Amino acid sequence: MFVYGASVLINVLLEQISTKVLAVFLAVLIIVRVLQVLREAFFLPPGPWGLPILGSLLSLKGDLHLHFRDLTYKYGSLISTRLGTQLIVVLSDYKMIRDAFRKEEFTGRPTTEFTNILGGYGVINTAGKLWKDQRRFLHDGLRHFGMSYLGSRKAQMENRIMKEVEEFLCVLKARKDRPIDLNPVLAVSISNVICDVLMSVRFSHNDKRFIRFMDLIDEGFKLFGSLQAALFIPFLKYLPGHNSTREKISKNRAEMGEFLQETIDEHRKTFDPSHLRDLLDTYLYEIQKANEEGTGHHLFEGKDHDRQMQQIMGDMFSAGMETIKSSLQWAVLFMLHNPEVMKSIQEEMDQVIGRQRLPKLEDLAYLPVTESTILEVLRISSIVPMGTTHSPTRDVKLNGFHLPQHAQVVPLLHAVHMDPTLWDEPDKFNPSRFINAEGKVQKPEYFLPFGVGRRMCLGEILARMELFLFFSSLLHSFNISVPEGETLPSLKGIAGVTITPNAFKVSLKPRPMEWENAATTIRPAGSH
Ligand code: HEM
Ligand SMILES: *[C@@H]1O[C@H](CO)[C@@H](O)[C@H](O)[C@H]1NC(C)=O
Ligand SMILES: *[C@@H]1O[C@H](CO)[C@@H](O)[C@H](O)[C@H]1NC(C)=O
Repeated sequence: MFVYGASVLINVLLEQISTKVLAVFLAVLIIVRVLQVLREAFFLPPGPWGLPILGSLLSLKGDLHLHFRDLTYKYGSLISTRLGTQLIVVLSDYKMIRDAFRKEEFTGRPTTEFTNILGGYGVINTAGKLWKDQRRFLHDGLRHFGMSYLGSRKAQMENRIMKEVEEFLCVLKARKDRPIDLNPVLAVSISNVICDVLMSVRFSHNDKRFIRFMDLIDEGFKLFGSLQAALFIPFLKYLPGHNSTREKISKNRAEMGEFLQETIDEHRKTFDPSHLRDLLDTYLYEIQKANEEGTGHHLFEGKDHDRQMQQIMGDMFSAGMETIKSSLQWAVLFMLHNPEVMKSIQEEMDQVIGRQRLPKLEDLAYLPVTESTILEVLRISSIVPMGTTHSPTRDVKLNGFHLPQHAQVVPLLHAVHMDPTLWDEPDKFNPSRFINAEGKVQKPEYFLPFGVGRRMCLGEILARMELFLFFSSLLHSFNISVPEGETLPSLKGIAGVTITPNAFKVSLKPRPMEWENAATTIRPAGSH
């Protein structure tokens, strides 16, 4: 009895103690966690706290880059906020962005569900050694095929681009006077430039294969958009709709992969190491070399060779196509809004180039009005308004604040380009802001359309070549205006991965070349 009583007592005591111990233990845990959060928050840059889990997601209205810009008005140029469970740090001071992105620690990428699907392949969504090696390799490869300001190879790239420019102009001429949406025509032409450099693939306008290819890309972008919410609130992925999005993405990726794999197989069959045709051949060469040296399994950090080539082609295409196409559409749209600028570009070209030929890269130095207009389009449209998201590779300090390793760091390029302390009346389209007192084009150091630092755009030189050759040739060949009876299209863009203008049509009036005038006068009447 006593023994029993004692054991009950002990049990009760133990139970009480253990509940107490447990309670104390839990309390300590909670306090430690709260202190951690507080400590982290204390050392984080200022910003709105928002609700737990949802973060500031509920207060999100409209475009994310505008939301972030509004926060900078309130909290300054370095802010932190939470979207869902993700910690976002936004930098909007160009010096801060430049100084941070120069450092190795800021070259990481966040791990998200999207990067999980990609499986660590490619270049854009990789980090560490694979990223570094691939970036250097691509940089050298693109240079080899003419992405360079200097040297004989530049002419090679110029020829590739001009082939597409000429075909582009041909398609437009064939439209005669009917109003036209330039978007689908540009899509083929710009895709051809990048696909030619990447894998010697060209599509004809109205090509079925191309239409499918573009559909896959567009679908990919849209699906990526609907995945975005889940990037910020991870538990959303357990909702039913999400599964099918994820599956569609995987399916989309697989079909894209198949298309690219066919091209890779094709290249393998016809590969000749003494004559490298394109970037894909330089990859095959690298793989062959590594295999011969017995280091093939170390290449790409041990990742599957074919899948890496597929993802590189996909990465370069998605980085190098939409961006150029949107920029050119913005350029045309700003010409509709500023016909006097278009006129002065045309006059400049008529004077410097004449009416016997299309513009060439070497003319650029003598066309300040044309060049400054392209720069102004890049500034005011900031087509990549938030650059790309970086992630510190370890806990780092920035301006006295502490950024944990998992943070998503956003360079708010849009805010830099719209900063009234840097630019006079930033909302105004004014190309002459890029022209100095001597009449020469000058780019201020806070002009960052291609980002800055170790992960800045890999395709800047190619982009500049394409923008100049397409834009100047278009204006040299046509007067562009709003179709009769239609209103001036809006300058409000659609924000996705890039900002694109809403669809619009233009009316094109040919500005005949001298040879075309000659041809019409020489041709005997009734010859056709
Ligand atoms: C008007 C055209 C373009 C603009 C405005 C643009 C802008 C940018 C920006 C802002 C970044 C991110 C920089 C950062 O977050 O640090 C970027 C990255 C990148 N761009 Fe471009 N880009 C353009 C065209 C191109 C072209 C034509 C190519 C390919 C040939 C290309 C390839 C890339 C790649 C591969 C990256 C990722 C680099 C990395 O992750 O290390 N871009 N671009
Ligand atoms: C989600 O997809 C996986 C396969 O990817 C499947 O096994 C699972 O049953 C799906 N869940 C729902 C809720 O549809
Ligand atoms: C193009 O527009 C300018 C005015 O901006 C005009 O003087 C010129 O005649 C037009 N050319 C053609 C071919 O319509």
